[in-house]
Amino acid sequence: MTHAAITGVGAFLPERIVTNDDLATMVETSDEWIRTRTGIRERRFVSEGETTSDLGAGAALAALADAGLEPSDIDLLVVGTSSPDMIMPSTACLVQAKIGLTCPAFDVMAACTSFIYAIHTATTAIESGRARRVLVIGADALTRLVDFSDRRTCVLFGDGAGAFVLEASEGPGVLGIDLGSDGSRPEVLQVAAGGATMPASIQTVEDGLHFLSMNGQEVFKFAVRTIPATTKKALAASDLSIDDLTWLIPHQANQRILDTVADRLKLPHERVFSNIELLGNTSAASIPLAVNDLYTSGNLRQGDVLALVGFGAGLTWGAAIVRWTKEDL
Ligand code: ACO
Repeated sequence: MTHAAITGVGAFLPERIVTNDDLATMVETSDEWIRTRTGIRERRFVSEGETTSDLGAGAALAALADAGLEPSDIDLLVVGTSSPDMIMPSTACLVQAKIGLTCPAFDVMAACTSFIYAIHTATTAIESGRARRVLVIGADALTRLVDFSDRRTCVLFGDGAGAFVLEASEGPGVLGIDLGSDGSRPEVLQVAAGGATMPASIQTVEDGLHFLSMNGQEVFKFAVRTIPATTKKALAASDLSIDDLTWLIPHQANQRILDTVADRLKLPHERVFSNIELLGNTSAASIPLAVNDLYTSGNLRQGDVLALVGFGAGLTWGAAIVRWTKEDL
């Protein structure tokens, strides 16, 4: 059987750093509140004119270089995002033009789970023989969608992009994947206006309906229930158990979520990767950015078993178990 293995990893972050103290000049909040409730100290913001496709293109070029491939070697591009440059065309098409790809390109939209959904699509394409080299990007600029007068949401998010090259290989690679969604509670986390239900109007803008709105406590409860469950299902699909995990790499939404999940899975906290302090919640980008951090800091070894776990609006969730096969940097 043909498997999908990660052969390239890349990241791209906007230059502008925004600290908690910077945010405290915009809304009534404090460094102490943000750090103790979320673990976040600073995050990156896109600059005026910088877009999700710019971030995605930067991460893609880094991943291609890491894999030692040219754009012409890629035969499918999948971009996971929920802050597309525009409703149409897809962000994938815009990235494609920016980096000179010629292959089919499309977006996958599953909020903060988008990267796991995109990995599922790429892995399926490779295992079925329909593609041999797939570029997968997680890119988001959610700071363009948040209301900077709403302290409950604007302190959480940062911008960035990460990318993997997945290639056909004789051994895995990607092992088991578990995906799920429950569309019965869209209001828990949504951007209500700007789509076909509620097209942008003076009224929607006056009512702030084009901003991201979130019931933080419901998302918290959903996350700490869902991450352990989907991780265990994906491990079972891989014939592995929690004891086989080298790293749990969850979507970086809140340090308190990561700590609770570690306790519920009885995992030592140091095996649950976190870089939320410096990046905040980068949505679809957070998982590939986390893998890139581990890889470039020399903390991944051939044979390591990683659980990449996402959750977010939809509601959506998913986990991909990966055996790390790249040589050390
Ligand atoms: N600074 C100061 N005070 C604040 C802030 C802030 N930034 N935000 C909220 N508060 C206040 C509230 O107004 C409230 O005050 P009140 O009691 O006087 O009304 C108080 O703090 C407590 O508010 P809660 O909402 O109960 O705070 P909580 O402890 O639940 O923490 C948080 C909020 C951090 C958002 C938490 O619920 C959380 O992290 N939830 C998960 C969110 C998440 O993961 N979102 C991303 C999902 S992924 C995706 O798809 C985008």
